[in-house]
Amino acid sequence: MSNPPAADFVDAVRDLLKRAPTPFYAYDLRRLEGRVARYQEAFRGARIFYAIKANPRLRLLERLRSAGLGAETVSLGEVLRAYAAGYMPDQVVLNGPVKPPAALRELARSGVPVLVADSPADLERIARILPGAEVLLRLNPDLPVDTHPHLATGRGDSQFGVLPGDWPGVFARGRELGLEMRGLHLHLGSDLNNPADFAARLEVLERLRARVRFLAVLDLGGGFGLEMDPAKLAPEMFALARRFGAELWIEPGRALVADAGVLVARVWAEKQTRRRYLLLDAGMTALLRPLLYGARHPVVPLYASERTAVYDLAGPACESGDVLAREVELPVPREGDALLFLRAGAYGGAMHLNYLDHPPPGEYAWDGARWEVWRRPGRLPPLWEDEPDQPEYP
Ligand SMILES: Cc1ncc(COP(=O)(O)O)c(C=O)c1O
Repeated sequence: MSNPPAADFVDAVRDLLKRAPTPFYAYDLRRLEGRVARYQEAFRGARIFYAIKANPRLRLLERLRSAGLGAETVSLGEVLRAYAAGYMPDQVVLNGPVKPPAALRELARSGVPVLVADSPADLERIARILPGAEVLLRLNPDLPVDTHPHLATGRGDSQFGVLPGDWPGVFARGRELGLEMRGLHLHLGSDLNNPADFAARLEVLERLRARVRFLAVLDLGGGFGLEMDPAKLAPEMFALARRFGAELWIEPGRALVADAGVLVARVWAEKQTRRRYLLLDAGMTALLRPLLYGARHPVVPLYASERTAVYDLAGPACESGDVLAREVELPVPREGDALLFLRAGAYGGAMHLNYLDHPPPGEYAWDGARWEVWRRPGRLPPLWEDEPDQPEYP
């Protein structure tokens, strides 16, 4: 069950609607702080690296850095964004299956984070371009998990990490290459709500322990679904890290920010084909998760009416998949009435698409007293400013 937004936050959104163009994202900072405190409490003694892909707004990163969190990143751009938010290189972990040479060379200039090597080739390239770097080696635990297939990164047929049988040899090779091999990284997947998935990972690591013994770091990644209670998961994770003699690191993204954010959209038409639609100014380019992962975001109307009906909620794209929710019972709206899509604080604004020349939605955070701009609403002309209108040659 999802947590309804706080009543004063909803009132503040109504007020913001008078000034901010829709669609936009709105965040309740008190809820964010509550989630962060819950994870910090459960994982006291571990290092928490916030997965900035979930929501990379600078003002958010600055806030989380001040709260003592590190940053988990997957691209040069994300590392530089974390540095722009004030993070030092040793507070940043760089993941991802592909780290092109040009990106590694840029890191040599701007600061070398902790790198997670994803394959033997990645390890060799890191050693060549960033000699002596601090490295974790990603394990592919070869486990099925209970989530959308696009989010199941720990399956043996996914492209991530090194399989358990190969892992000790590749780790030893990293030492031969002169890298500072600090430990093991494992990320099962995202949006995991079944505790059995987390438990299965422990068995794989326990088997591996016989072959690797001591590690300085055990990074167990993110993936904590919103239904998971961190206090229930933490003790087993700490116990496992202790068995390796390792410090525990984790990389939550969604669990910290999803519930703090809503997408705000307006209804511009009601329409009947063989199904009954409300047509909104937000669709797949503002919130991609329903199309990409079949994600369900609860919907709350910001208007009232005596009659209700069951609607599909479609966006402005010429794509029949541009539907944010199906079969939602709502009061019958008038033109311009607004809706909230809940649990949109993670992988919402972050995944905005410029497809169809839709500029990025504005993003605003509410601290209980006032709104702060996290991202100004995008403007149209800059969307094509990198496109020559005269012949130009590389
Ligand atoms: C390596 C890694 N760490 C952490 C995360 C964060 O996952 P979540 O937002 O589900 O916690 C991801 C997301 O896919 C990831 O790939």
